[in-house]
Amino acid sequence: MRIIRAKDYKDMSRKAANIISAQVILKPDSVLGLATGSSPIGTYEQLVKWYEKDDLDFADVTTVNLDEYYGMKPENDQSYHYFMHDHFFDHVNIDPSRINLPNGMEPDEKKECARYDAVLRSVGDVDIQLLGIGRNGHIGFNEPDDCFAKGTHCVELTESTIEANKRFFVSEDEVPRRAYSMGIHTIMTAKKVLVVASGEDKAWAIRESCFGPVTPKVPGSILQLHNDAIVIADEAALSLCG
Ligand code: F6R
Repeated sequence: MRIIRAKDYKDMSRKAANIISAQVILKPDSVLGLATGSSPIGTYEQLVKWYEKDDLDFADVTTVNLDEYYGMKPENDQSYHYFMHDHFFDHVNIDPSRINLPNGMEPDEKKECARYDAVLRSVGDVDIQLLGIGRNGHIGFNEPDDCFAKGTHCVELTESTIEANKRFFVSEDEVPRRAYSMGIHTIMTAKKVLVVASGEDKAWAIRESCFGPVTPKVPGSILQLHNDAIVIADEAALSLCG
């Protein structure tokens, strides 16, 4: 696991965007695993800027997203579909037919998990998986648990995650309680994993994920076993790492 120290959020975002753009330049038909949330917004902004300057071309790229809220319509501005279009897809030349996310509107969990796993198999190995990390160490929506979930599954979000996500909703009652998430096994099969973390509220999760025991109680800790995992964290997120 390589840890790259960034000065602040902006520096973290530029460094992450540099790694993703190198991937796309080296392999124009890359499969990019993408994340939502506040951590990668600056990375997407930077990638969009470079695309606008004609430095990047996403025409042949395929994307797979980590997760989506259960029961949430794609047009809802809190959905991860909406987020991805708003922050990235609508501003670059990604072919819409190569964009893949779990379908939050599929009520049949078994059916949707099987469908998304089949999509993930059909696109092949993810070349680079961008990840944020939850305060409790979750990656995707793989919440702390007694074992690592392998494939796509429907999760009950923890109180800590609901609490962290309520800032995006009018009230806590509106925060969805469940989500579809890519599993840990799928994340671990990505050729490269890139975690972005900023701010003091991520310091515990970063310390435990990078230096603590590998345990499903801290899902991010599994990344210590990945042979090409990069963590780009700012000073505040690294503040407990010594
Ligand atoms: C989002 C995702 C989550 C977030 C995590 C951190 O697709 O999978 O694991 O990365 O909750 O969220 P932020 O970046 O908002 O702190």
